[in-house]
Amino acid sequence: MTRPEVPAERKSLVYQPSGGPVSGVDLPAELRLRDPGHCCCCGSPERQEDGARKDFSSRLATGPTFQHFLKSASAPQEKLSSEVEDPPPYLMMDELLGRERKVYLETYGCQMNVNDTEIAWSILQKSGYLRTSNLQEADVILLVTCSIREKAEQTIWNRLHQLKALKTRRPRSRVPLRIGILGCMAERLKEEILNREKMVDVLAGPDAYRDLPRLLAVAESGQQAANVLLSLDETYADVMPVQTSPSATSAFVSIMRGCDNMCSYCIVPFTRGRERSRPVASILEEVKKLSEQGLKEVTLLGQNVNSFRDNSEVQFNNAVSTNLSRGFATNYKAKQGGLRFAHLLDQVSRVDPEMRIRFTSPHPKDFPDEVLQLIHERDNICKQIHLPAQSGSSRVLEAMRRGYSREAYVELVHHIKESIPGVSLSSDFIAGFCGETEEDHVQTVSLLREVQYNMGFLFAYSMRQKTRAYHRLKDDVPEEVKLRRLEELITVFREEATKANQMSVGCTQLVLVEGLSKRSATDLCGRNDGNLKVIFPDADMEDVNNPGLRVRAQPGDYVLVKITSASSQTLRGHVLCRTTLKDSSANC
Ligand code: 5AD
Ligand code: SF4
Repeated sequence: MTRPEVPAERKSLVYQPSGGPVSGVDLPAELRLRDPGHCCCCGSPERQEDGARKDFSSRLATGPTFQHFLKSASAPQEKLSSEVEDPPPYLMMDELLGRERKVYLETYGCQMNVNDTEIAWSILQKSGYLRTSNLQEADVILLVTCSIREKAEQTIWNRLHQLKALKTRRPRSRVPLRIGILGCMAERLKEEILNREKMVDVLAGPDAYRDLPRLLAVAESGQQAANVLLSLDETYADVMPVQTSPSATSAFVSIMRGCDNMCSYCIVPFTRGRERSRPVASILEEVKKLSEQGLKEVTLLGQNVNSFRDNSEVQFNNAVSTNLSRGFATNYKAKQGGLRFAHLLDQVSRVDPEMRIRFTSPHPKDFPDEVLQLIHERDNICKQIHLPAQSGSSRVLEAMRRGYSREAYVELVHHIKESIPGVSLSSDFIAGFCGETEEDHVQTVSLLREVQYNMGFLFAYSMRQKTRAYHRLKDDVPEEVKLRRLEELITVFREEATKANQMSVGCTQLVLVEGLSKRSATDLCGRNDGNLKVIFPDADMEDVNNPGLRVRAQPGDYVLVKITSASSQTLRGHVLCRTTLKDSSANC
């Protein structure tokens, strides 16, 4: 395979007050497009904090020195939380503080973005910001955005138009509302967002959340501020994400960021940068804390979780290398050494035997036998694997640069099913990729039938600029054909998932209780080992560890449920007893 295109990393443009881009060197991308003496939204001279802001603006105008930029460009990105950081020379320490301004965070897209929201909030909270869930109350609105498909971005543009009205209507007696775009869309579109939507004050790419206090401080003066640098090593290892729902039974723990795979349709390597893993020790520390807080489930999170490779210490480079799944190849040069996913999974699953471990999203190429063996033998590692196929046609898979054929994928599925009896499988598929013929589509339908996934995530292809497919292939499947094929995939997936889920009827399954069912106040809802939703009446039951005691299930309890019916998305049953993960005697 040829080497991948390398994402434009550590390159950014710095705009001078005069407006012209300076260079493509590694400098903080502060986009100064406004006259600092005027309000950013209405252009009127400033009110209230005029004096302080003028002083601030004049310091900004004299600005950071070139030496300062050089220093920050060469400094390692990761800092220990205990280290006290000097403010940039053009900002006073107190200007970096939130001064109890209220932040409203809105998350779009995948679970990585939910985790990023928690990281961004953790950083802002430490800086003295308050959080609000009331949009009207907010002084700062931050949207954590997604670029994976055109539709995801359109949703953000629409939202920005609504927020513009909010900003314009804001009474002059309040501090001006600041609006920020965080995450993938900030990274993909960069200054285009600032130019197109003048009401956006702050842009922060996925590796720039530590810079949010500074960016917001710059925005306070009425200037737009942006940092869209991608990093080779930022994993936010020392930033403990702030869980937003205190009653939650489960949490996501980010273990790696970025992606090196360069599938030809995918924007992720360009928005989230190169693959890098968080040190094992810091992951274990976070999992231990979550266990002490009483959480019962942890999902290890990353763009390619099972490509995990901790190279943070020299001695890890002697670790035995692990193989790719049989018949799979990478688009990049083989990487050596480091602590791999099997090691991490082993360590994480030992932290708390009552804590369920899941992981998402993996790539099928990184399922060596040691990972499968571990999933099979460890009670608290869920027997559930997401195995994104994307297509059932070898021809399309090659155009997608997935690094495997249909045959290799099917062989892996059989191997997984043999190694982990009762495993639950899910997948992602794209309908209508460049050049996909009716025959290719039929092959995808047949793969859905052959594997019989329990869960599926199906999408119509959406051409993304910058990707290899955008440059080299033609988006030639008409929209209505893409949608028709997508509908067919959904129908077949549902039929097969219903069949697969019906195999559970009559079985007793271990369910982690989440709380009341959304549809009925007399039912509870939880998840089985395969991550499928299980609904059952809220009834009293025996507690196996306290014979004779009758209890009602609470969120975070493990209960045994006898399954009585199944659909493509849900199981139903009745509860038998409260138990523990170790003592459970689930029979399928
Ligand atoms: N168009 C449609 N779906 C896409 N995905 C990634 N990029 C695109 C695209 N350009 C899907 C893939 C991936 C999931 C997260 O999103 O199926 O696995
Ligand atoms: Fe995108 Fe996933 Fe492929 Fe990476 S492995 S390029 S995130 S689809």
